[in-house]
Amino acid sequence: MSYDIIRHIPVTFKMGAPDGNHNSSIIDFYAGKSVFITGGTGFLGKVLIEKLLYSCKDIKNIYMLIREKRGVPAQERIKKMLDTVPFARLKERTQLLSKIVPIHGDLTSEYLGFDCFSLSCDH
Ligand SMILES: NC(=O)c1ccc[n+]([C@@H]2O[C@H](COP(=O)([O-])OP(=O)(O)OC[C@H]3O[C@@H](n4cnc5c(N)ncnc54)[C@H](OP(=O)(O)O)[C@@H]3O)[C@@H](O)[C@H]2O)c1
Repeated sequence: MSYDIIRHIPVTFKMGAPDGNHNSSIIDFYAGKSVFITGGTGFLGKVLIEKLLYSCKDIKNIYMLIREKRGVPAQERIKKMLDTVPFARLKERTQLLSKIVPIHGDLTSEYLGFDCFSLSCDH
């Protein structure tokens, strides 16, 4: 599978807590929603992404901030990440894996290093 690394977020996000319905399950909560994740290549981030894809199959997309590191482009890093042990159960599940949308950026840069910043919050 190949991933196109995007350099801006072309969508409007809804962020914040669930809509006050404390009875809804985590699976229901993420159905049809997209999330934006930083640290996705890290120890905790990989587990979070795998768990969201595996258990919340109706999640829309996982937008994942990723940077080039030690000369390895973001696109190559995503491929390597998906070959690691935490993603073993998803290896053949290309439809789920395709929900990962890498966004090129850096937490230490202004506007996270996005070329175009179009994030808006409803909460
Ligand atoms: N591990 C634990 O048990 C634990 C427990 C409680 C809290 N925490 C905290 O939770 C956070 C994540 O933990 P972790 O174990 O997953 O850490 P980690 O394995 O070191 O991963 C750090 C993640 O942050 C990313 N990152 C760091 N600087 C960045 C930057 N400037 N721009 C974009 N991405 C950047 C790294 O991306 P690169 O791959 O590009 O470097 C990586 O994905 C840390 O703040 C840690 O202190 C960890």
